[in-house]
Amino acid sequence: MRLMMWQAAEQTRNQRLRMNKTAKLEIDGKVYELPIVIGTEGERAIDISTLRRDTGYITLDDGYANTGSCLSRITFIDGEKGILRYRGIPIEDLAHNSTFVEVAYLIIYGELPNQKQLKRFSDLLTQNENLHEDMKFHFEGFPYNAHPMAILSSMINASSCFYLDLRGPYDPKRFEVEAARIISQVRTIAAFSYRKSLGLPIIYPKPTNKYTANFLHMMFSEPYQEYPLQPEVVRALDLIFLLHADHEQNCSTATTRFIASSQANLFACAAAGVCALWGPLHGGANQAVIEMLQQILETGDDGSKFITEVKDKKSGKKLMGFGHRVYKHYDPRAKIIKQRCDQLLKVLHREDPLLDIAKRLEQAALNDSYFIERKLYPNVDFYSGIIMRAIGIPLEMFTVIFAIGRMPGWIANCREIMESSDSRIYRPRQIYMGQTERPYVPIEERT
Ligand code: ACO
Repeated sequence: MRLMMWQAAEQTRNQRLRMNKTAKLEIDGKVYELPIVIGTEGERAIDISTLRRDTGYITLDDGYANTGSCLSRITFIDGEKGILRYRGIPIEDLAHNSTFVEVAYLIIYGELPNQKQLKRFSDLLTQNENLHEDMKFHFEGFPYNAHPMAILSSMINASSCFYLDLRGPYDPKRFEVEAARIISQVRTIAAFSYRKSLGLPIIYPKPTNKYTANFLHMMFSEPYQEYPLQPEVVRALDLIFLLHADHEQNCSTATTRFIASSQANLFACAAAGVCALWGPLHGGANQAVIEMLQQILETGDDGSKFITEVKDKKSGKKLMGFGHRVYKHYDPRAKIIKQRCDQLLKVLHREDPLLDIAKRLEQAALNDSYFIERKLYPNVDFYSGIIMRAIGIPLEMFTVIFAIGRMPGWIANCREIMESSDSRIYRPRQIYMGQTERPYVPIEERT
């Protein structure tokens, strides 16, 4: 009953989404009225979709910093206040009470699952955890020192060759299986590529293990020697997956929507998401943070020299794990991870000198006018690497862990595109700044 009332209220809210308000734009003495769109959290946008048709002008927004590319119901971020909610539920509540698998369902299907739904979803994950056996031979082709993100994206894409039913219009039943297959297998591929990089035998998934425990088992068990699962470790990694599960229109998610808009299959979308995530300005930052902290440790710097270098633009250095396009406040995920980091190291009776350096850097940056003026705060990547180090995950796998976590978000965003009857292919425009028309010069006449 409560659910129905809530749904009705949401419908009314959605009907109000396109308000009658308009913005006026004056170009060459002529005034154009543009509809104003207001989101459920009061975010405002000017709908310029007919601007070029009506005026001959396009909008220019290098890097899309001020461009809303879609209407979405999945994740809400208020970067000024440091708020993050998946499907309306605060990240703090989910981090405290939920699990990655439950959150994956919430993000993709819009509601927290009831017991039956959760069981069905978990069963689908288990039924699809094994790769096609022939996929094993594909791993042989990669050099030992290949970056696992390269292997991950290639293997996700290669998986599509084994599921020939992928073609055809969107079908909710098939989508449900595909989504579960990708979420489950991305973890199997990740663990296989890690074992392969060390020349270790592959460890198959164990159906009685839950999602995150199964990943740790495939990473660290040996034939005839099970990895001893510690609940704190499993929970800490599960939390990392959960906190990365979606983050609205970031670089990799926008990429997956782009690919989905061409009606490519879900595997192709997910593989592209992995590629976009790899860069050090995006998911690759978690690896870059640890590399930065290690360098600081090795030079014997207490962090202050590094902060001075970062402020000098000529140095080309950045304080990795700091700053965010959307957050102009402390990233709420960073707060949660920092807390869990302290707890985990305590439980494992470990000390990590990199954690001390990270805390010193954070304090120095938060009190420094350079960072204060630019509103630069720790982001999700600043402390997540310390937890992964404590668990024993190697540096090169950090961004892979991010990719496993982000998979539900990519899938949910693709689903929005695939389900929408009025979705069209993404195709931004540009302002051409190159040569104007000129003739072809034969090679013998060229200087
Ligand atoms: N260290 C030092 N200075 C910084 C940093 C940083 N980490 N981040 C931003 N700045 C400075 C910029 O140099 C710029 O200074 P200016 O105004 O004097 O030119 C100002 O702050 C604004 O920064 P932009 O680069 O314009 O911010 P943008 O929104 O384009 O970039 C980004 C955001 C890429 C995250 C940036 O802050 C950065 O490179 N951070 C380090 C990498 C990182 O941690 N990435 C992970 C992001 S979270 C994620 O993807 C999961």
